[in-house]
Amino acid sequence: MDMLPRQLPTPGTVMVRPLLLKPQWMNGLSERLLVSHYENDYAGALRRLNAIRARLAGLDWACTPGFETNDLKREELIAAGSVILHEIYFDSLGGHGDNPPTVLAEPPGRLAQVLQRDFGSVTGWRAEFTTMAKALAGGSGWAILAWSQRLSRLVNQWAADHAHSLAGAIPILALDMYEHAYHLDFGAKAAAYVDQVMANLNWDRIGARYRLAIGECTGEDELFLPFGAPAQEEARISAEELKAALEDIDEHRPVLLDLCLPRDLPRRRDMLVGASMHAPGALPRWIEELPRGRPIVVYCICGFQVSGTAVTELRRRGYAARALVGGITAWHAIGGATVPLDTSTYEEAS
Ligand SMILES: [Fe+2]
Repeated sequence: MDMLPRQLPTPGTVMVRPLLLKPQWMNGLSERLLVSHYENDYAGALRRLNAIRARLAGLDWACTPGFETNDLKREELIAAGSVILHEIYFDSLGGHGDNPPTVLAEPPGRLAQVLQRDFGSVTGWRAEFTTMAKALAGGSGWAILAWSQRLSRLVNQWAADHAHSLAGAIPILALDMYEHAYHLDFGAKAAAYVDQVMANLNWDRIGARYRLAIGECTGEDELFLPFGAPAQEEARISAEELKAALEDIDEHRPVLLDLCLPRDLPRRRDMLVGASMHAPGALPRWIEELPRGRPIVVYCICGFQVSGTAVTELRRRGYAARALVGGITAWHAIGGATVPLDTSTYEEAS
């Protein structure tokens, strides 16, 4: 059924991770802020990291002067730290499935016990962590909760920049204190931003990261997949793979379907080149126009259930359909080309 050969990006490429939080449904953190942070700052670091790694891969070490090695290796460290910490930050936020985060969420029992053991109480941990974060206001850096094997405990770790870490410790929660993380919504009120982040934590994912850090198998991969994305890997395509597939000019080039709920149209500005836009509810109409012999890639805003449900249905009917992981948001993040939104093919379900 899968006519789209797997076209993996260049070996060594660090691939974009999708947003797991639903940016339109957070408590007091706006979609504009979160998406700008993800597409510009996180993705900027990712693109920089890949560019530096490509440069490093092409170097002749014997002829490379020390100052050039120093520059590239320093920038690689900073970009890699930024990528990894941003991924932990975004993964640590968000609700459960379709439910927005509740301000009342608390660490799961096991993690609560460890926080109590290491900080006296969950409240004690929270006081130290948020005070540490707020103390970075006006500057930049990260507040990190990390597991240290050597110290046999969780630590609240101060970080002045992306490359500052406690040796050997594994971060399980990271709070971004760079101004770009809050300025759009909070201006200079960094303390208000810290409180709002704490009201949006996804403790299930933070707990899973803790179990991973202490070497317990998580077996909870679905926690780190966008809600509603198809479960089988062959029903999903990464932004990097899609970019490579679109360079094909033959029958392997995928047909692009842009699906958007009517209520989400105001959130849209652009679309992938050559895509046609439809309402998921009008599937009985637009499915008739789909070619049987071509691979199909379906995308929505962030790659949650809008594209996931449609891909499951298309595959059930025998189409070689895949959902774009992370949606057009991940596509933007890798610097994929888009054109202004064209809704001329959009017809709501009657
Ligand atoms: Fe950031």
